[in-house]
Amino acid sequence: MYDFTIAYDRFEPASEQLREALTSTGNGYFSTRGTAEWEDMSDVHYPGTYAHGGFNRETTIFGGIPIWNEDLVNLPNWLVLKLRIEGEEAIRLDNVELLDYRHTYDIRSALVQRELRFRDHAGRVTRLRSRRFVSMVHSHQAGLEWTLIPENWSGRAEVVSALDGRMTNRIVARYRGLEGRHLDPVSPRTFGDEVIALKVQTRQSDIYIADAARTRVFHDGEPADVDRDLYQKEDYIQQVLAFDVEQGHQTRVEKMVSLFTSHDNAITEPLTAAGRHVQRYPDFATALAAHESAWAELWDVCDVQLPREPRAQLLLRFHVAHVLQVCSRHTARHDAGVPARGLNGEAYRGHVFWDELYVYPFLNLRLPEITRALLLYRYRRLTEARAAACEAGYRGAMFPWQSGSDGTEETQTIHLNPLSGRWEPDESRNQRHVNAAIFYNVWRYYQATDDLEFLRDYGAELMLEIARFWASIAHYNPDRQRYEIHGVMGPDEFHERYPGARQPGLRNNAYTNTMVAWIAATAPQVLDLLPPSRCAALRARLDVTDEELHTWDDMSRRMYIPFHDGVISQFEGYADLEELDWDHYRAAYPNIQRMDRILRAEGKDPNRYKVSKQADAVMLFFLFGHDELRSIFERLGYRYDSDLARRTIDYYDRRTSHGSTLSFVTYAGVLAGLDPASSWDRFMVALNSDICDVQGGTTKEGIHMGVMSGTLDLLQRSYVGTSVADGVLRFEPRLLDRLDGVAFTMRFRGTSLRVGVKDDELTVLAEAEGFRGPLRVGVGDEVRELGPGSDCRFALAAQPSAVGR
Ligand code: BGC
Repeated sequence: MYDFTIAYDRFEPASEQLREALTSTGNGYFSTRGTAEWEDMSDVHYPGTYAHGGFNRETTIFGGIPIWNEDLVNLPNWLVLKLRIEGEEAIRLDNVELLDYRHTYDIRSALVQRELRFRDHAGRVTRLRSRRFVSMVHSHQAGLEWTLIPENWSGRAEVVSALDGRMTNRIVARYRGLEGRHLDPVSPRTFGDEVIALKVQTRQSDIYIADAARTRVFHDGEPADVDRDLYQKEDYIQQVLAFDVEQGHQTRVEKMVSLFTSHDNAITEPLTAAGRHVQRYPDFATALAAHESAWAELWDVCDVQLPREPRAQLLLRFHVAHVLQVCSRHTARHDAGVPARGLNGEAYRGHVFWDELYVYPFLNLRLPEITRALLLYRYRRLTEARAAACEAGYRGAMFPWQSGSDGTEETQTIHLNPLSGRWEPDESRNQRHVNAAIFYNVWRYYQATDDLEFLRDYGAELMLEIARFWASIAHYNPDRQRYEIHGVMGPDEFHERYPGARQPGLRNNAYTNTMVAWIAATAPQVLDLLPPSRCAALRARLDVTDEELHTWDDMSRRMYIPFHDGVISQFEGYADLEELDWDHYRAAYPNIQRMDRILRAEGKDPNRYKVSKQADAVMLFFLFGHDELRSIFERLGYRYDSDLARRTIDYYDRRTSHGSTLSFVTYAGVLAGLDPASSWDRFMVALNSDICDVQGGTTKEGIHMGVMSGTLDLLQRSYVGTSVADGVLRFEPRLLDRLDGVAFTMRFRGTSLRVGVKDDELTVLAEAEGFRGPLRVGVGDEVRELGPGSDCRFALAAQPSAVGR
């Protein structure tokens, strides 16, 4: 690894699919895995291209029962570029002797490069450099370039340039029993001599996808004399370009590609658009330069400097690049949510979960227009969420745990346990807390941006409908004189039901109930913020009565939160579960993160034990500052003593297997103020989790968006201690020894800020360009108002060291 480069110096078949995911290139509209363009789909190589919203549903007959699944479809492979020498078999990594090999990903511009020197079976030595990008300027554009030098031979070379529509979804071994065919062929065609194009259609959702490719060859900078030969079938089109190469001389091949779908705006249909656009594209170098300049602009807003921690520095930037590859300004022009596993694999079938909660904080304070657009993904699915609530006997809007094309519940009902090979029921749809996350996301977006128009036109309606849902799923227990919620799950997916219970669901998940108390208190504030006419209109249209507002107020004071042994109980009855023999399992298994699978494979029910997959009750300390949480608890009439956080975090930390890498982010966050050294350890685990594939095989199926973005948020929120309250941007820097020299840009309510911590001093500079006042920033009790172009400094108190273990 280098400053801005992830590099692999040897080809290792067993790691290739992981590297493909990590070196994928995208622009927030589409993304393509870093697969070598000359390789077909196999157990080693997996070409994959995915676009936001490219979903399709298929039926699988499973044990006689039809199962309906929605997948983010692996789109036609635009990469295909193969080299044939003297008419022989195309070069692959496994049919030549590799003399040199280097596969790199340049973080600055998400540029993928492979440099090879190989000897073929006839003893010919050839040098090949391949570079590729997916344009951050023109969302439909991608480019691939080869530079070829025959070292000890001259002769005839052929390049096969193809568009392959025969793709299936099959990278996730667990899903292979399910239907993976999603594309039907439509038609190939050419546009003039140089351009081949292919149109396909998703089988059920009727999305048309078209790619077009223009391939050119240059000798020493001049267009080469090339014979072109065309082969086309309905699902595949290729052009073979034949030309002479000379020993020691450079030949360049460039393949410029366009990709359109029928979801796009401003087109007549995708094939025509793809063909027209690609014909106009400039050459590779010009397109690449424009692409790099767009990334430079993004880095100006999103870079994070952490000079004292080189590895963390590199990985933070790597995560910035990946987050922007999936969520960019291009994303904002489409109907897109945040797929939990990005756009470079098929895990979780491209579905949208609650992980947005970890993604938006970074975007809110840099590129809030992207969060705004992603929140609209939810708004557009409000009708479906209302219908889901109604069908389940509730009011308001009930968003699904897993969301895809139209916002219906996409969570599967059975799931394969790879350890036991058995299909097991999946109750995870009972994670209704996703609705609390959506509410929270809208509110935090509003706090960071002051975008009252968004609240007025969309946000308030979403929030009111969610508050209403919670009020209807909750019931009043007169014995306790408290509101309770039964039949749901918290974020910890190991607990779906009580041991031995016939019905899934738990009573009074503390995380959910506390979020609901907060929602019930916040929803009326949202109404107060709206212009009176809009407030009246919305209340009338949604029929929000005074009585309903009264109920919300009552819930904000009387939701039930279970406790035991001085800590928050994850759910009612948690205290009665059995303790797990952690020492035994740690000794017996090399990795116990997925304790659920281990226990089930042993014939035991994880529901019986005090074992959590991830932060659950502990989430509360992550999402709210201590003052905020104290006021929620005190309003509820519960004691919030100064040690509750420490006790609760410690209790669950000892009982959590961190089977979701999100859990490392959460624990790193909540421990920042309590145990800085331990917090840093977990931060590093989270930073390393994808690049080192800590879960042993999950990252090749797609990067973890929540974790990547979560680490960026950790630095700003938990370490620099950024929060927004009452229109003031506050900082509470911690871990100063690690953080010394940290610097980044933020956008707060329209104004760009440069924030830095150096020598126990925090500096905030307000850019003059685009300044929007009043701008108030604070540390502790000290709040200062900044004008355009002015800065301020805050002295920071000494801190416990984070360098300790
Ligand atoms: C986690 C969920 C998360 C999902 C998608 C699961 O393993 O338990 O909290 O939403 O992955 O990332």
